[in-house]
Amino acid sequence: MLPITVLHTDVCDTACDLLVVYVQKDRWEHERVIERIDQAFDGRLLPFLRQERFDGAHGTRVTLPTFGCMKARKVCVIGLGEISSGKTDALRIAGGQLAKIAKEAKTKRIATVSPVHGALGPEYEALIQAFAEGVALGAYEFSDHFGTRTRGKERFVFSSVALIEPDAARCRAIEKALRRADVIVAATSYARDLINTSPRHMKPADLAAAAKAIVKRGSGITCKVYDRAAMERMGMGAALAVAEGSAHAPYFVHLTYTPKRKPLRRIALVGKGVTFDSGGLSLKPADAMTNMKIDMGGAAVVIGAFSALADLALPVEVHGVFAAVENMPSGTSYRPGDVVRAMNGMTIEVLNTDAEGRVTMADSLSYTVKRIKPDAILDFATLTGAVIVALGDDCTGYMSNDRSLARAVGKAAKTAGELFWELPLFSHYDEALRSKVADVNNTGGRSAGAIKAGLFLKHFVGNVPWVHCDIAGPVFCEKEYRADMPYGGTGVGVRTVLAYLEDLVNEKKIAKSSPKKRS
Ligand code: BES
Ligand code: MN
Ligand code: ZN
Repeated sequence: MLPITVLHTDVCDTACDLLVVYVQKDRWEHERVIERIDQAFDGRLLPFLRQERFDGAHGTRVTLPTFGCMKARKVCVIGLGEISSGKTDALRIAGGQLAKIAKEAKTKRIATVSPVHGALGPEYEALIQAFAEGVALGAYEFSDHFGTRTRGKERFVFSSVALIEPDAARCRAIEKALRRADVIVAATSYARDLINTSPRHMKPADLAAAAKAIVKRGSGITCKVYDRAAMERMGMGAALAVAEGSAHAPYFVHLTYTPKRKPLRRIALVGKGVTFDSGGLSLKPADAMTNMKIDMGGAAVVIGAFSALADLALPVEVHGVFAAVENMPSGTSYRPGDVVRAMNGMTIEVLNTDAEGRVTMADSLSYTVKRIKPDAILDFATLTGAVIVALGDDCTGYMSNDRSLARAVGKAAKTAGELFWELPLFSHYDEALRSKVADVNNTGGRSAGAIKAGLFLKHFVGNVPWVHCDIAGPVFCEKEYRADMPYGGTGVGVRTVLAYLEDLVNEKKIAKSSPKKRS
């Protein structure tokens, strides 16, 4: 449930411990809320704010007690900065900050004046939705459903923020926007939970179970889970090889969403689902291994996005595919030098067992092309450390064999407020993947590691339009850089996928209606 409720009241009549008021830079002195509160303060609010050198710049804030001149106990005025460009994201971040303030204030009674004022319509709703996403995603804390944390649990988590809006028509628009935000936040939070879960509690079987858990009767979602024997029959020699060193059996998962209306397109989401990546026999150094529970973050994107599909009811047929495996060193591990065969018949020389992600993806992509025959594939994988070297901790590197699909994914990421940057798939770099004993090798050497991983995957998508998103950096937030991304798994990718699917439907609608308009 979204930690926001709509309150159809007047600012001064809202009883609460803390009232947060957002204002824009430059025009903050003339905003109606400020005038209204200033009146209640007998004209003493504005002089005080000026004295405090408050100017409405982004992040500036002043808190003051009301001493009974209005029903709120304290008022906090916060600057949103200049909201002209990047409005949506500014509101998302403001929402995240509100969640922080609510947590710090340790009060359950916190209210805020709706920070969006423009004309009613889709843009108004998108802005409210972004604000609500920010509040909820900023409030997120790992729910710890396995009880792995016994100390420090007493930390305060606020229950909800009241959003004040005196206008009834706006209240209805807000309610609608909140319902959408709720679906998107729930999907992102589910992905975060899966990523945050300790690898002891997130074995391949658990990841497959998490996919099964989102299947509800009548939702249009089905989930097929293949076991090792079934994977062998399908010829998944690559993914199976990666799983050989682990004591925990691999599974292959295929989720399907069939809309009630005739689908416009068939889209496949493919994820990397390595539940723990020790590196295998090409063992990682201790420090590089500590957080490798995040290596199923791509599968978490698939499962998270899927969990929203029934509620969004988009007329798109969606498939979700991942191989759930653990990469471990042991006497039964696959070895450097091994040649394995993927489901599309291609052979792979394993030069490094730590480049396991692309080996598992080889089978997931082959399966998708062969069995699903989608119009487009979007893959999400914590594939390389090299993408972090190239783009830093907070940015997804994406690559594509199709210009229009790349553009669509870039646009969706922008809408969703996720940092994505495209990398080129220079075809001559593919030479680095040549092998003397197999069709390809799985490393390609040190330089341009993220691109070479992308080129490796390209061998398994045939001529299906495809985008590969390397989320190795932003999958996990170590150091908070914006208020809607607290420490831990971020669920990055979920919101971009959902925005992409929504854009797809909207564009089709426009394409259908525009010839009529012209005639
Ligand atoms: N799961 C890792 C990539 C990774 C690194 C994700 C850091 C998140 C944070 C992947 O399986 C891996 O180990 N890649 C190797 C590839 C190399 C051996 C060609 C890498 O990036 O070092
Ligand atoms: Mn690895
Ligand atoms: Zn990995």
